Amino acid sequence: MTAKKRNILVTSALPYANGEIHIGHLVEYLQTDIWVRFQKLRGNNCRYFCADDTHGTAITISARKKGITEEEFIDGVSRSHRADFAAFGIEFDNYGSTNSPETRAFCVEIWDAIRKAGLVEEREIKQLYDPVAQTFLADRFVKGTCPKCGKTDQYGDSCDCGAVYSPTDLIDPVSTLSNTTPELRAATHLFVEIERCREFLDDWVTNSGALQPEIVNYLKGQFLSDALWPWDVSRPAPYFGFEIPDSPGNYWYVWFDAPIGYMGSTMQWCKKHGEDVAFWWKNPDTEIHHFIGKDICYFHTLFWPAMLKSAGYTLPTKVHIHGFLTVNGEKMSKSRGTFILARTYLNHLNPSYLRYFFATKTSPRVDDLDLNFEEMEAKINADLVGNIVNLASRSAKFAAVTGLGDAYPEDGGLFRQAADVSEEIAAAYEERDYGKALRHILECGYRANKFFEDAAPWAIRKELAALEADPAADPAARDAAFKRLQDVATVSVNLFRQIIVYLTPILPDLTKQTEELLGCKIASWSDVNEPLLGKKIGTYKHMMTRVPKEGIEAMIEETKNLNKPADAAPAEQPAAPEEAAAPEVAVSDDQWKDSGQPLLDEPMSDMITIDDFLKVDLRVGRIVEAEQVAEARKLLKLKISLGGTETRQVFAGIKAAYPEPEKLVGRLVVFVANLQPRKMKFGLSEGMVVASGPGGPDVFLTFPDEGAKPGMRLH
Ligand code: 2FM
Ligand code: ZN
Repeated sequence: MTAKKRNILVTSALPYANGEIHIGHLVEYLQTDIWVRFQKLRGNNCRYFCADDTHGTAITISARKKGITEEEFIDGVSRSHRADFAAFGIEFDNYGSTNSPETRAFCVEIWDAIRKAGLVEEREIKQLYDPVAQTFLADRFVKGTCPKCGKTDQYGDSCDCGAVYSPTDLIDPVSTLSNTTPELRAATHLFVEIERCREFLDDWVTNSGALQPEIVNYLKGQFLSDALWPWDVSRPAPYFGFEIPDSPGNYWYVWFDAPIGYMGSTMQWCKKHGEDVAFWWKNPDTEIHHFIGKDICYFHTLFWPAMLKSAGYTLPTKVHIHGFLTVNGEKMSKSRGTFILARTYLNHLNPSYLRYFFATKTSPRVDDLDLNFEEMEAKINADLVGNIVNLASRSAKFAAVTGLGDAYPEDGGLFRQAADVSEEIAAAYEERDYGKALRHILECGYRANKFFEDAAPWAIRKELAALEADPAADPAARDAAFKRLQDVATVSVNLFRQIIVYLTPILPDLTKQTEELLGCKIASWSDVNEPLLGKKIGTYKHMMTRVPKEGIEAMIEETKNLNKPADAAPAEQPAAPEEAAAPEVAVSDDQWKDSGQPLLDEPMSDMITIDDFLKVDLRVGRIVEAEQVAEARKLLKLKISLGGTETRQVFAGIKAAYPEPEKLVGRLVVFVANLQPRKMKFGLSEGMVVASGPGGPDVFLTFPDEGAKPGMRLH
């Protein structure tokens, strides 16, 4: 009997578009990706949706700092977020942006519904205003002393002690934008009277089964024991977000449209795939699973269900809440070099290490998770390299000689035993208890390695070699030795394959390598029940190395260096909450210590229109020939391919900067394709390659990012 295919919609919290992805974020995206891959491998109809959370004042400030529009800013961040996720093997079915027409349409619909349900009230409130920066201050732009415990340097919405309050309650508030004392000003805000949903929320929190027991207790103790505060969902202009249609001049607060972004992203996917969004969001046969950190539990377990309920959408089946990441037992820290960006990690270590290590630490509880580098190194080296990969490399060597037999040999029940734990492992994955799943999987590995050791195939191989070399040897004895060797190889390879099926959600790259080795796909969880037989297998290629200690050290060093100028900045909290005041690294200018000298040397030109710009036909080109022009002091002669048979010859003044032109061959460049050809002393120059720098050795060609193809136009 086959189990009914489940429809499962999965989300991770939308990362805020004001900072880069760091390893604190990855705790969540990796555990969600593992869960989704598991569901897909089980044959369920599972989709994973996410998006950038793009609205709010912090975005405006960061964009302004860079002299670009908010849209341009969030586009750049989106590209970088997507690249980081892809490099860690995190595969979304759709990755969108809250700043999309789809999200706006859902905002309007849900807003109308909660208005109709009588949940919205309009009130004039006094809000902190920064007269120097000329803006009302979002909670995260005010710091001061906690009104509850007296701790200094706390944000405007909550304190380290757990207290939640409003910024006007802070003692000695200071605007983080101008470092001045803000003043109170009156403004009209719209509030959702969430207390009016009490009956529903009491029941949902207690009885839905969507929440972990510790979360139920937390919500009951901290929030539901008292009247729920009205939720202030509007912000006056100027604000980067969606204007509220029936309240001109007011915008939805970023936290109103953030979870609605889950729906917007789903809608984008539905449009691409011709599906009905109601199938995913208004269907009792579809499960909805949110993965979030404990810091944003309040929004997802009270406001969000209330909004969904009021608008007639499906309530979350489960909100999977995890703790924060600590590194070496402490909060991630820029100065200690442990506030590690995804990109910095990737510069030094294999992403599979982190996927595996986080998985060993994942449990269904809300506990914090510690990344201790020595422990990580020991675990990867022992579990993955020593146990699993070792089994593959040793058994594949013999299987390459014998191939896999046509019938599965007697193995003392090992294959059956590994297949029999399938449902236990599946239940552990389902419960997000990846640590438990891995303990079972490693057990399979130990048993398989023991079988291999006991069978000593190297001795059989030796015996076989001797028989093969001896013309007088009995062919029957030779066949028997071959069969014994083949049996050992068949068993070991199949035990390895079962392990890889189980590990697929955690280590998809290892699965790909295994598929290549075995010459067949791992398509389904039930592959553990059927041995692979009667096949030749490929040559074993190296699968994974031990963790390089120097890689860990270099990663920490690079992180320290990256953060040196910004060290005094706040935001040491791993999962940076919304509107984190300090734009984190890589999108801020100061971390690179860029001097601004080039702009002084060559001031910017007058404004042009987009039409002016479009007159210049910039194309991706590939340098297919590059040579010195002997008689010219500065020039290299280049042949540029624009794809197909289109080529251009150009003379570029880059000789001093690129003294070995042959090294340029094959590289992509940005090419001005419609520049009037120019007759030069050495021949016709039919365009120009784009470069920067003052000249001489300081000329820098512009290289398009990976993936660009010759002939593509730059817009
Ligand atoms: O805490 C954060 O980083 C938010 N950007 C998460 C939003 S989750 C959802 F509501 F969109
Ligand atoms: Zn406090």
